Amino acid sequence: MVGRGSGLPAASPALAVNAVSGKLWHVTARSVPHVSLEPRRTCHARELFEVLADPGIYRYLDDAPPASVDALREAIARTESGRSPDGTEQWLNWIVRDADGRMAGYVQATIGAKGDTNVAYVFGTAFHGRGLARQAVEHMLDLLAAAHGARTLLIVCDRRNARSIHLARELGFDDAPPGVLQRRRIADGDILLVRAAA
Ligand SMILES: CC(C)(COP(=O)(O)OP(=O)(O)OC[C@H]1O[C@@H](n2cnc3c(N)ncnc32)[C@H](O)[C@@H]1OP(=O)(O)O)[C@@H](O)C(=O)NCCC(=O)NCCS
Repeated sequence: MVGRGSGLPAASPALAVNAVSGKLWHVTARSVPHVSLEPRRTCHARELFEVLADPGIYRYLDDAPPASVDALREAIARTESGRSPDGTEQWLNWIVRDADGRMAGYVQATIGAKGDTNVAYVFGTAFHGRGLARQAVEHMLDLLAAAHGARTLLIVCDRRNARSIHLARELGFDDAPPGVLQRRRIADGDILLVRAAA
């Protein structure tokens, strides 16, 4: 299990640069609650099923809640090796707990051979608006750069998903420049946000 503080400088705000778009953004340090990340395992299936049963999660997602605990356990088992079946991609998933040890959601990343990394995050609505997602995603991004070879971080998001877009921008993501958009086709109604990993 891993956990930590915000990782941001004590003074705020600081300036940082998005190395893909070249734009500056303000990094606002906040005092944040402790979250912990645990690699997702089949033993998490029952607890995670309860979190993912929340219909509010799916407002802007194509997914639906898992059909059963067993179905979720099987889905987790298929990714537990951390690799795609052909071995070309890293499939990384962590469940997130709040300071009281309650499972709040999960964060995940798919890393291709060249370090292009799709990032996603899902939290139960009862855990929204507390800064948990920001801290957990920020921590995952640090891990992806330090230990998994992530280079370019990408988030595909429904344009109406204001909370997710706000979170991504808070973490330094910016609209993908035309060159990146040409390489990554996204659905109408989605937005592609991008940032360098480190
Ligand atoms: C996207 C999602 C993770 C964002 O969750 P969130 O609760 O808005 O994000 P956070 O946990 O970082 O909370 C941020 C808010 O918490 C509040 N907050 C309270 N204490 C805080 C603290 N110590 N630090 C930071 N924020 C804090 C603030 O109001 C902050 O919003 P602000 O930046 O506008 O001030 C969540 O909406 C979700 O899981 N949605 C369903 C799944 C989904 O759509 N995933 C994205 C697919 S692209």
